[in-house]
Amino acid sequence: MHRTKSLLELRSTVVLAYSGGLDTSVCIKWLQERYSADVVTVTLDLGQQDELKAIEDRARLLGVKAHYTLDVQDEFVSDYVFPAIRANAMYQGKYPLSTALGRPLIAKKLVEVAVKEGADSVAHGCTGKGNDQVRMEVTVKSMDAGLRVIAPVREWNMSRDEEIKYAIAHHIPIKPSRSIYSVDQNLWGRSIESGPLEMPDQEPPADVYEWTRLPEEAPDAPGYLDLEFTEGVPTAANGSAMGGRELIGFVTKFAGSHGVGAIDHVEDRLVGIKSREVYECPAAVAIIEAHRDLEKLVLTRNELSFKSHVESEWSWLIYSGLWLDPLRADLDRFIEGTQSRVTGSVRLKLYKGNIKVVGRSSPYSVYDLGLSTYNKGSTFDQRSAEGFIQLWGLQARIASDVRKRSDRQVGYQRKTAKAAE
Ligand code: ARG
Repeated sequence: MHRTKSLLELRSTVVLAYSGGLDTSVCIKWLQERYSADVVTVTLDLGQQDELKAIEDRARLLGVKAHYTLDVQDEFVSDYVFPAIRANAMYQGKYPLSTALGRPLIAKKLVEVAVKEGADSVAHGCTGKGNDQVRMEVTVKSMDAGLRVIAPVREWNMSRDEEIKYAIAHHIPIKPSRSIYSVDQNLWGRSIESGPLEMPDQEPPADVYEWTRLPEEAPDAPGYLDLEFTEGVPTAANGSAMGGRELIGFVTKFAGSHGVGAIDHVEDRLVGIKSREVYECPAAVAIIEAHRDLEKLVLTRNELSFKSHVESEWSWLIYSGLWLDPLRADLDRFIEGTQSRVTGSVRLKLYKGNIKVVGRSSPYSVYDLGLSTYNKGSTFDQRSAEGFIQLWGLQARIASDVRKRSDRQVGYQRKTAKAAE
């Protein structure tokens, strides 16, 4: 009796991030076999619109010890997406980091469940070629250095066909129509890779798009979207106050229907590989466009200039898996300081894939009509510009005088040297 108990205690428990797809389903069986482990699966609802009940059933069918379905959408919005909006986060100026923002939250939940289940390991289905493995593992290890991280897909090195054979041999049900694309989805966006997209010179086939209409199929009349911001985050759309999750859903549909938010770009992965990525992020594109514009109305020139450096550093940290690097929190404190005045509204005009800000207002606006008007009633005393220009250009003028003088001197020396020859 005693002996049996200690043998049981030797059995390891692994908490696996489970999407319900082929890779992570094979992971369950593989962990059970190779690591003689009890597997606990965790599926997060990040707004990816999956059939969560079917995923849970699948996990149970594969003999997991326990399964967790966790709705973390509100936490995702408030702790990850909102900071990204405040930071105008766009990796390489184009990618709103939708997948990247979800990873540290998934890792956090794995660690939480591991503690609850007394597990010694966590596992994920990321490959060894991408960024996601880095994001997950750095976050897990930063939270709990004692947890072992297992990356079966990286370890087993199976081809797609071998994986399918393994699945059949282990009675893992395979969905018949597998997409040719590798897709990752959450409420902030949709990432699509592989298949025909691997040819960066070819236009993406129309079937990659699910959240955004092709411009040629978008409505012939423009759509107007009014977004209201309170301290840097959107709080109302087209006149209705909404919670973050609802608002993001609304803007996704609205902007996507006008063809806004489709992104096609060549991206530098953390491991150095360049990859052609297609994203559909209608809400991110519209909200960040509006947010950035509102900041231009309320922040000073120096704040804007400094913040743009902070933004690219912030985006890089998130992209490269360093969500928990203390620098991110330091940058967040700076950003937060600027956001207390980012309150107001922005009007966007969307038309066949294009998006334009056409109006903005704020109680904290630094725009002063009296100063900027060319009409009568200007409060700006134009005579004060004269002295300003003298001082502003002082060094440039002196430097230019010095330059001319020394050029003349060099010219004179050359002439006299030539005459002496
Ligand atoms: N390249 C993006 C990133 O690193 C998206 C990765 C998406 N993953 C996928 N399975 N399609 O954040």
